[in-house]
Amino acid sequence: MIESPISLDSLRRSRGTFADSIGLPPEVYSDEQFHRFEMEAVFGAEWLCVGRQEQIPNVGDYLSVTRAGEPLIVVRSADESIRVMSAVCQHRGMCLTANTSRSDDDMLDPPDLESGSARSFRCPYHYWVYNLDGQLVGAPEMARTTGFEMSDVQLPTLAVEVWQGFIFANLDHAAAPLAPRLSKLDEALANYNVESLITVDPMTIPDVPFNWKIMVENFMEMYHNSRLHHGIHDFAPSSGAWYQDYEPGDAAMFGFNETLEPDGGFNPTFKALFPPLPGTTMQERQRVVFALVAPSLLMGFQSDSAFWFYVDPTGPTSHALSMAYIFPASTVDLPDFGETLEEAIAGVSNFNRQDMPTNVATQAGMQSRFAPRARYSWQEGVLAHFNSWLVERYEAADGT
Ligand code: FES
Ligand SMILES: [Fe+2]
Repeated sequence: MIESPISLDSLRRSRGTFADSIGLPPEVYSDEQFHRFEMEAVFGAEWLCVGRQEQIPNVGDYLSVTRAGEPLIVVRSADESIRVMSAVCQHRGMCLTANTSRSDDDMLDPPDLESGSARSFRCPYHYWVYNLDGQLVGAPEMARTTGFEMSDVQLPTLAVEVWQGFIFANLDHAAAPLAPRLSKLDEALANYNVESLITVDPMTIPDVPFNWKIMVENFMEMYHNSRLHHGIHDFAPSSGAWYQDYEPGDAAMFGFNETLEPDGGFNPTFKALFPPLPGTTMQERQRVVFALVAPSLLMGFQSDSAFWFYVDPTGPTSHALSMAYIFPASTVDLPDFGETLEEAIAGVSNFNRQDMPTNVATQAGMQSRFAPRARYSWQEGVLAHFNSWLVERYEAADGT
């Protein structure tokens, strides 16, 4: 139990629907103490997406990620199951996946999401070696140390669940399973074959200068589509937004934005650049789906492709943002795939050029003494759903 620095009564006013709730208190976007509370209440207790299963297809393949401030290794272990374990060496705490061959100059560059293939993990500091299950299997010059047994030393593990190809980890081993709480989203995505989609060119921006919730809100609400993105979003106007109702216990919030024509696309042609996703209906080809598996996995599905974003708070006013496209194998195999992908990425960057400065300016505004508690339009109803989900977590952690 950890006490919320903002009163629960105040937070509870953000529970409900767009019609009857108000925005969260502005301090939740910048207060240091509230950030620490939220890291425990939300990120220390919930399922956090750490990657996709097809990124580590073979035994020994691994991703090195940080979530909730914890350096982690996501690895395909010897029995082909996926394990998520701490990357903190149990000798004196060096991070196993740190790259010690980087020069001083490199250290100034932000590291990318690192990945690779390993037979074991050797700590660069004193060469303690761990196998793919995190068991210590080598430790030089420790034979004279009283009572030291390698078999006693194991990298701490996290609970793991794979849903639709996305790998989730939870610091709380007693957490309720995730999949049963995603059944409505499963139904909405049934024709998209999400499990079989393939991640292409994932990248991480380590220091996005605004609170993680501002990113989630901007990604999920469609009210701004016809306003901030006026002109470039006209193929999918805000008037075509619709959100699934949220009930306590749901782990996902999602909605649809109808497009004026089938096979629309976020690029200057307003048309899909790749073939439609196999198996989707005409109705599905005429809308975009935006989904959040709270707190940190954001997904978008268009007629011809899908994409994921992971948000990971790094402080009260900053987060790391990872992103990638996911495509069917049949699209990735097209001869002009690389070229078309570049065109698609250039198209999406037109939206980012408007969204990112808006988010930075929202962060500044929410730190003002004149910061509001929002009233919401129906076109941003999902924000009330997200707030309701958050308030449930704040309440559960506070326990008062
Ligand atoms: S800190 Fe890892 S071997 Fe010493
Ligand atoms: Fe936007």
